[in-house]
Amino acid sequence: TAPGAQGPRAVLVGTMGAGKTTVGRIVAERLGVAFADSDAIVEERAGKVVQDIFVEDGEAAFRELEREAVAWALAHHDGVLSLGGGAVLDPATRALLAAHPVVFLRVGLADAVKRVGLGTGRPLLLGNVRSRVKQLLDERTPVYEGVARITVETDGRGPAEVAAEIVTAI
Ligand code: S3P
Repeated sequence: TAPGAQGPRAVLVGTMGAGKTTVGRIVAERLGVAFADSDAIVEERAGKVVQDIFVEDGEAAFRELEREAVAWALAHHDGVLSLGGGAVLDPATRALLAAHPVVFLRVGLADAVKRVGLGTGRPLLLGNVRSRVKQLLDERTPVYEGVARITVETDGRGPAEVAAEIVTAI
């Protein structure tokens, strides 16, 4: 990491279940810097949780808040920053990310489904989650790869191991 560089020391991207928040907190702790998360910034500004913004105001409203939150954090947060899984879909966000140390946390379908936390007891629900996660992975993986300077594999690995690899790589 270049000393005196502006903006975050690392920006973590990847889909839901990649471990961005868990890993990001550990990386921040190891580096002795603050951790921030675009979802948390949006929630603080909106005064409600992401799920309520989606339901009450719609996804487009959420994406606008998210774009503003990410732009703000890239300019002002100098610790570790995790982005919501869909933040990279915004072209303006992608343009801003080009100047930053973006780390893609790669996860395969099986581990992503496991980590988003539906038990295995309900095949009808789980089948829907699996197909939706698969669709998101298929659509977004090329986008994550396009913005990332570093890709870190998370399948079958714990957050501490993934975090250690990031600390070494950035
Ligand atoms: C989203 C991911 C979520 C959150 C919102 C939308 C997405 O963040 O921003 O529910 O489009 O993938 P996490 O990736 O931190 O779960």
